[in-house]
Amino acid sequence: MKNREDYTETNRVMWNETAAIHQSNYVNDLLKRIKAPDYCTFDAVEQRLFAQIDLSGKAVVQPSCNNARELISVKKAGAGRCLGLDISDAFIAQGKQLVHAADVDIELVRTNLYDIKDEYNGQFDVVYVTVGALGWLPDLSDYIGLLSRMLKPDGQLFMYEMHPVMIMFETESGSTVVNDYFQRTAYREEDDADYMDPDAKIESPSYWFQHTLGDILGQCIDHGLNINHFEEYRHDISNVGAHLEQSEHCPPLCFSLIAKKA
Ligand SMILES: C[S@@+](CC[C@H](N)C(=O)[O-])C[C@H]1O[C@@H](n2cnc3c(N)ncnc32)[C@H](O)[C@@H]1O
Repeated sequence: MKNREDYTETNRVMWNETAAIHQSNYVNDLLKRIKAPDYCTFDAVEQRLFAQIDLSGKAVVQPSCNNARELISVKKAGAGRCLGLDISDAFIAQGKQLVHAADVDIELVRTNLYDIKDEYNGQFDVVYVTVGALGWLPDLSDYIGLLSRMLKPDGQLFMYEMHPVMIMFETESGSTVVNDYFQRTAYREEDDADYMDPDAKIESPSYWFQHTLGDILGQCIDHGLNINHFEEYRHDISNVGAHLEQSEHCPPLCFSLIAKKA
């Protein structure tokens, strides 16, 4: 049994290996595309919900920002101060390249989210959490506590994530149930295919944690976040569940949540 630091340190090494693969596979192309004033990663759900939130001038933080391409979209959509936080040295370095190419003002900080104390308390109008962020985090309570602390009063958590039901299904084919929705121990992965490039293998081990919908909603409630939007969808936003969209009984594949700091 590992502790939280062991899990996150193992995952940091894996993310650095992943960043090197992405760097050689698609970042050169991205460095060109990201210069466009209208560069945007938002799909129809994000377009609709961000129109409601209105990003204009808002201070936005993205925990687990990866290479910041989504945060660059937020900035180009009119946000004010933008801060990205990520544990991977290599993804933060990649993000700085992209921010420079996009010619936008975004601060990127390499940090384990669990090492953050009070330095960002009460500073943000929006906390932006997107696909593939939650599952790498061993302690959901401390994580949602951090998101809540970073918000100003009336600030909003915007989450657009993979649905936790997805863990139950085989990822390669069909909709066969293979895993327990309520699993409480970590999933160890090794020699896995990269989610952007299925032909590339990530050799470093990593740990993934199941957080049920009840865990996520419950932690928002416990940390003073009033949920005012929640919706489930049958489209895949993860790159690993597209086959499930085609299955006869399609499970929910992602959800959106907006919660306001009390
Ligand atoms: C799949 S990415 C998801 C982010 C973004 N939605 C994307 O698609 O690029 C997951 C990110 O979480 C970061 N991460 C994992 N554990 C973390 C931790 N404890 N603290 C900060 N970042 C973490 C990883 O480095 C990685 O960049």
